[in-house]
Amino acid sequence: MFSRATVDNEDILILAPLSVLPEFQNKGIGSALIKEGHKTACRLGYEYCAVLGSEKYYPRFGYVISSDYGIQPLKGIPTQNFMVVKLSAKAKNVNGYVKFAKEFGI
Ligand SMILES: CC(C)(COP(=O)(O)OP(=O)(O)OC[C@H]1O[C@@H](n2cnc3c(N)ncnc32)[C@H](O)[C@@H]1OP(=O)(O)O)[C@@H](O)C(=O)NCCC(=O)NCCS
Repeated sequence: MFSRATVDNEDILILAPLSVLPEFQNKGIGSALIKEGHKTACRLGYEYCAVLGSEKYYPRFGYVISSDYGIQPLKGIPTQNFMVVKLSAKAKNVNGYVKFAKEFGI
């Protein structure tokens, strides 16, 4: 699932949750969902997507620690687990904290 959030008054996306049924895991489905999701998000005009997750999984899709793109880390979360990918080479620079949809309770 992708949901909308904001940084610096710019709309960005949050990727969460990502889930594949256990019997279908390790067949490339999670990767395909992420790549296709990124393409659609870019087509819709989103420039960044953030994720709170494993630093061993998401970097293969271009995610880097959020501060590399001027997005502040989340309080109380290890820096390496809050990552951001730039969806478009033309993305504007952003600076600030992510404001999550209220349903996240963050
Ligand atoms: C994470 C998840 C979506 C990956 O989906 P998938 O279809 O199995 O993933 P893919 O087949 O595209 O990729 C498999 C690779 O991801 C790695 N991987 C899977 N889950 C991982 C995890 N939690 N942490 C780190 N690496 C993980 C596998 O080791 C494998 O690595 P390899 O390519 O080096 O062998 C799936 O394992 C899942 O639903 N897990 C339970 C829910 C969950 O933890 N979601 C993530 C929330 S941040």
